[in-house]
Parts: sequence; C-alpha cells; structure tokens
Amino acid sequence: MKKRMITTDILEDDKRTEASLRPQSLDQYIGQEKIKENLKIYIQAAKERNDALDHVLLYGPPGLGKTTLAGIIANEMGVNLKITSGPAIEKPGEMAAILNNLQEGDLLFVDEIHRLNRQVEEVLYPAMEDFSIDIVIGKGAAARSIRLNLPKFTLVGATTRAGMLTAPLRDRFGVIHHLEFYNVEELVTIVERSAEVLGVEIDQEGAYELARRSRGTPRLANRLLKRVRDFAQIKYNGKITKEAAIYALDLLEVDQYGLDMTDRQILSTMIEKFGGKPVGLDTLAAAIGEDSGTIEEVYEPYLIKNGFLNRTPRGRMVTELAYRHLGFDFMIQDS
Ligand code: ADE
Repeated sequence: MKKRMITTDILEDDKRTEASLRPQSLDQYIGQEKIKENLKIYIQAAKERNDALDHVLLYGPPGLGKTTLAGIIANEMGVNLKITSGPAIEKPGEMAAILNNLQEGDLLFVDEIHRLNRQVEEVLYPAMEDFSIDIVIGKGAAARSIRLNLPKFTLVGATTRAGMLTAPLRDRFGVIHHLEFYNVEELVTIVERSAEVLGVEIDQEGAYELARRSRGTPRLANRLLKRVRDFAQIKYNGKITKEAAIYALDLLEVDQYGLDMTDRQILSTMIEKFGGKPVGLDTLAAAIGEDSGTIEEVYEPYLIKNGFLNRTPRGRMVTELAYRHLGFDFMIQDS
C-alpha cells in the first residue's frame, strides 16, 4: 500500500534527513517547554552529583520528538546513546547482553517500550532498580542464578501508549513526561529552522501554511517541507511562498486542517455509514479497512484534539465541525 504523506511512521526519506534536522541541544529544541524546563534541572543536578540521570519515560503520539529528546539528553549529559526498540528484542538474553555492554552513565533508548515481551521486560526490573541482572546458569537441578552488576545507566523509554505499559515497568521510571502536539507558532519556527538547515528559501506565509497543515507534528512538517521544496524548485523559482505551499499541499491532498484522505475517510464513513451515531472502534476500523490500534494511536488523537471526533462511553462520535468541514448538513444526532 502506498504510504500516506502524513503518516507519522518514519519513512526511508525521513531517515536520510531527520538526523541533520534534529536539534542537538535543549536550547535548539523548540516547544515542549515544560519538559525542557524539567529536564534542564534534572540534567544539571545529575551532572553536579556526577551521577546518571534517573530513568525517563516519554509518551505521546508519534513524530513529536521522543527519539530527538533522547539524543539531546545523551548530548547534554555527555554520554553514549544506544538505541533499540521493544519489538527488536525477542529474548531475555538479548536484553541482558545489551545491558551488560553498557558503560557507566550510558543512555539506553528503548523505543516502543510497550511492545517488549514479558520475559524481556522482567530483565529490566532489577536492571533499572538495582543496576544488576540475574542470569541462570545450567539446567534442571543444577541450575543456579548468579547476579551480575551493571554500570549505572539511564533508560529512556518511549511509547505512544502509556496505558499499555505494565505497572511494574511504569513505576520504575523516576521521570515521566507526556509530549504534546505543537502549536502552529512552534511549527513555524521548526519549519524555518529546518529550511535553513536544508538551504531552502521560505517566507513567513509559506512557513505558516506548512505549519498549520502539519497536524501538530514536526516529523510531518519536515516531510511536507521537503516535498513542497520540490514543487517550489520546479514551479516557483525555488522559493517557498504561500502560493507555492498551497499549490503543493493541495496536490498532496493535505487539507487546511492537515487532514489527509484517510482522516476524511474516517469522518465521512462515520457520517454516511453510521449516520453520525456512536461507533465502536473495531467496527469503524473494519468499515474503513484500517487497523484499530493505528486509528486509536495515529489518527484519533489529532481528530479529537481538533474537535472533529469525540470518544463517548457508547463509542466514537463525529462532531458538528466534522460535518461542516466535509460539507455535510449537520443534524442533531439522537442516538
Ligand atoms: N525538528 C524536529 N522537532 C524539532 C523540535 N522540537 N525543535 C526543533 N527542531 C525540530
């Protein structure tokens, strides 16, 4: 299936440029002010004590900068960054090996930490709490457990779904932060900074047009910037103006609110197939042929935040705004 332009998954193209666009320090990082303020204090305090930073859990929708923040924390602490992810570690022994290879103070970033399996997760408990792991040697009656000491390290876990973390794991993080969608002003600043890094000329109105259609997500803003740059280069003498941005974004079918085809399909299905009445997540997912977890994690947060959709005890409901935005007449729904 063709990848959506506004998917928040990391695409191949993002990988090539995301690293260069990534801010390297907290001062370069735009937005998430509360998180930055807190992290600054924790980092300074840990450095003054010559200690590792407490374990940090970052959660929130994809594309908001969890990996970027982990990199920044490592930079600011002056330690190595090791990156892995929940689905990549299948066996407890693999996790034990990763932990055993860490050096004093290192930062281990585990993306999608909610996807670690239970046995692997259990290796983390003593590692996070006491900086040790228990290894079983031998089999059957001769089996015995030995305790290995680990260097003091910092685990930074990232998840889109904090609710899916088990309580014992969640409780072992000293610092827990929720990343919020960015506002348009912050995204304008991010787009202008990225344009400078990429060497593209962009005016304020062009940046604004890109920012407001990026659904609060820097990863999308940067991806749209790169695509709009192509249109500007071929059709608008290389400068991203409002006109160039509108032309390109319309062709990419990203609308004024940053909604794409799939978002609009979700809303129109709820209106046309379900008459605007409450719909269960699984029913909705089946009706549009999308995975229910993806709807819940990727599409819904933005639709809810912007007032197109509500979660109610009886199911998901579209709002009057959704009717109006898609050009339907709104009628009070008496379910
Ligand atoms: N690029 C991606 N996210 C960013 C952020 N929060 N600040 C600056 N540049 C970014």
